[in-house]
Amino acid sequence: MPYPFVGNMDLMGKLRSLELSTLVRPTLLLLLFYGARDAHCSLVYGNMTDGRSLLDFKEAITDDPGGALHDWNDGIHHCMWSGVSCSVRHPRRVTTLELGSLNLTGQITPSLGNLTFLRELDLTNNHFSGQLPSLNRLIKLESLAISENILQVNIQDATIALANCSELWLLDISSNMLVGSIPRNIGSFSNLRVLDLSQNNLTGIIPPTFSNITRLQVISLADNQLEGNIPGELGQLPYMMLVLLKGNKLSGRVPPELCNISSLRELDLGMNTLSGTLPADIGYTLPFLVWLSLGTNNLEGHIPDSLGNASALRHLDLSSNYFTGQIR
Ligand SMILES: *[C@@H]1O[C@H](CO)[C@@H](O)[C@H](O)[C@H]1NC(C)=O
Ligand SMILES: *[C@@H]1O[C@H](CO)[C@@H](O)[C@H](O)[C@H]1NC(C)=O
Ligand SMILES: *[C@@H]1O[C@H](CO)[C@@H](O)[C@H](O)[C@H]1NC(C)=O
Ligand SMILES: *[C@@H]1O[C@H](CO)[C@@H](O)[C@H](O)[C@H]1NC(C)=O
Ligand SMILES: *[C@@H]1O[C@H](CO)[C@@H](O)[C@H](O)[C@H]1NC(C)=O
Ligand SMILES: *[C@@H]1O[C@H](CO)[C@@H](O)[C@H](O)[C@H]1NC(C)=O
Ligand SMILES: *[C@@H]1O[C@H](CO)[C@@H](O)[C@H](O)[C@H]1NC(C)=O
Ligand SMILES: *[C@@H]1O[C@H](CO)[C@@H](O)[C@H](O)[C@H]1NC(C)=O
Repeated sequence: MPYPFVGNMDLMGKLRSLELSTLVRPTLLLLLFYGARDAHCSLVYGNMTDGRSLLDFKEAITDDPGGALHDWNDGIHHCMWSGVSCSVRHPRRVTTLELGSLNLTGQITPSLGNLTFLRELDLTNNHFSGQLPSLNRLIKLESLAISENILQVNIQDATIALANCSELWLLDISSNMLVGSIPRNIGSFSNLRVLDLSQNNLTGIIPPTFSNITRLQVISLADNQLEGNIPGELGQLPYMMLVLLKGNKLSGRVPPELCNISSLRELDLGMNTLSGTLPADIGYTLPFLVWLSLGTNNLEGHIPDSLGNASALRHLDLSSNYFTGQIR
């Protein structure tokens, strides 16, 4: 099952291996199939608003070593430009901008905020720096993948820049230089399925308002500087499959509520300062658990016997804790 808009290779590998077909919305697949092929339907050069916005974006690219944008010029309709796809019903309107892994250097210009039909924006794995401009007119945006760049953005500003993007189901800003603490209103992105903010410099707590994102299936906040408890409210998310919170400064218990998410496939809480004992029935209540990583924490007590019943488990890391007793 193709899963093209997650830039983070770690996560992409995991998603592939789990065959998360339910993650990919049928509409998105259709859109991919239409792609550039249908763009030539439009031979009307009338409304070039989106073309102008794209040229404005190109002007801010200071280095394009592979010549990826060589065909972005006035002689060619913008719907035919590399990486650009347009709507079938609204032929001049750009719906997809796919410019991942092209070694582009530059800034993300505010003009992208004028591409009001945009559904997918993929700028993964380039050298984009600076801020995320306001994209809050992009009310159709479903997928924003800008991982592996050098954006220096405060997460609070990022959520303001995306304020009206209520259709977003994938938001991947991993591996950048995000700072600040995750605002409570993250819960207002109520359509999110996949949220990846890993490998940044986020501080503060994990807000309990994540429980509002009821369709969330993947959350990765790994490798940041987050502290405080893991909110038990995460346990209220019935479709959750991957909870990846390793490499932070999280403390307190492993919330028993997490063991209530029977759909959970992977739980990675390694390299934090979690303490206390594990919920005794963890192996009974998580029948699909494939990956459990709790290494390098301050956990104690007996290793729950119930883990012996987690028959799907393929990776178990309990190392560097204070567990006692026998493994049965
Ligand atoms: C081009 O399309 C945009 C958005 O649909 C519209 O606001 C603008 O008025 C159009 N411009 C022209 C010249 O038709
Ligand atoms: C990007 O740069 C890397 C390393 O210099 C190179 O291997 C790769 O081929 C480049 N990719 C493109 C699309 O230019
Ligand atoms: C966006 O479009 C409006 C008019 O539709 C224009 O006035 C404005 O300059 C554009 N902004 C950018 C950043 O291109
Ligand atoms: C987007 O949200 C802002 C407030 O953040 C609001 O003022 C604006 O009208 C909204 N724009 C659209 C197109 O919905
Ligand atoms: C979360 O949901 C509750 C109840 O639906 C609502 O009152 C609250 O405003 C939401 N919070 C956020 C941050 O979206
Ligand atoms: C995170 O912030 C700390 C302190 O400001 C800084 O030393 C470190 O280099 C930052 N790391 C990243 C990956 O930005
Ligand atoms: C788990 O879910 C059940 C039923 O939905 C509920 O009764 C129980 O209190 C929950 N346990 C925790 C620890 O949240
Ligand atoms: C755990 O596994 C054993 C042996 O397969 C089985 O007899 C027992 O019923 C299981 N317990 C639960 C609570 O699923």
